[in-house]
Amino acid sequence: MELKIFESADQAANFTAGEIGKLLRLSPKSCLGVATGRTMDAVYHHLCQINKNEKFDCSKVKAFALDEYIGLGRKDENSYRHYLDTHLFRPLGFDIKNTFLPDVHGEDLDIAGYEYEKLIREAGGVDLQILGIGLNGHIALNEPGSAHDSRTRVVALSQKTRESNSSLFRNAQVPLTAMTMGIGTILESRRILLLATGATKAEIILKLVQGDIRSHLPASALKLHKNALLVLDREAAALLG
Ligand code: GLP
Repeated sequence: MELKIFESADQAANFTAGEIGKLLRLSPKSCLGVATGRTMDAVYHHLCQINKNEKFDCSKVKAFALDEYIGLGRKDENSYRHYLDTHLFRPLGFDIKNTFLPDVHGEDLDIAGYEYEKLIREAGGVDLQILGIGLNGHIALNEPGSAHDSRTRVVALSQKTRESNSSLFRNAQVPLTAMTMGIGTILESRRILLLATGATKAEIILKLVQGDIRSHLPASALKLHKNALLVLDREAAALLG
């Protein structure tokens, strides 16, 4: 896994947005894997700025979200659908028909997980997968202990993740479960870029960079990937030697 360190969180986010922008410009029919979380706010903000100047056409780009909470209504403002529609899909002019999240509203969620995998395969696989990282090392919502060959499925959220994500919730509790792409699903992406910024991520980044590959640290599976890049700001990289 390659490593790139920027002086500020804003520069790291701008670089990440630039990488997405390059893909959208060069391959208007590409397939993008998108993440949510506070770290992504600045990325999508920069991407919208880049788009203002360059005006790339996103109408044929396909986008697959990493995960979605279970138990929120289709239009709930706390859902990842709402986040991505607001921060990314609508501002950039994606065709909403080409934007996908795990379907958590049907009766059989096992089938929904299987169908999501099928949709990704039929789209030709993800060209560029953007990731953040949780304080406990989760990627998407693959919590510690998730198998490296796990697929899209229902997962229980850890207390740590629920606490950390609670500040993003308005008038509601963080759900107990979600549907997430598996680590195996993520590893099939052609290119992966994980962005971590801020001092709170320094400890988990140290464990990720210097530790072994193990299921207790889900992000460590990215070391198995041939084209994965870890993008950090100074604060997140602060404990690296
Ligand atoms: C959520 C998302 C993850 C994200 C993580 C970190 O749990 N499902 O994809 O990486 O939050 O979020 P933040 O960027 O807010 O620290």
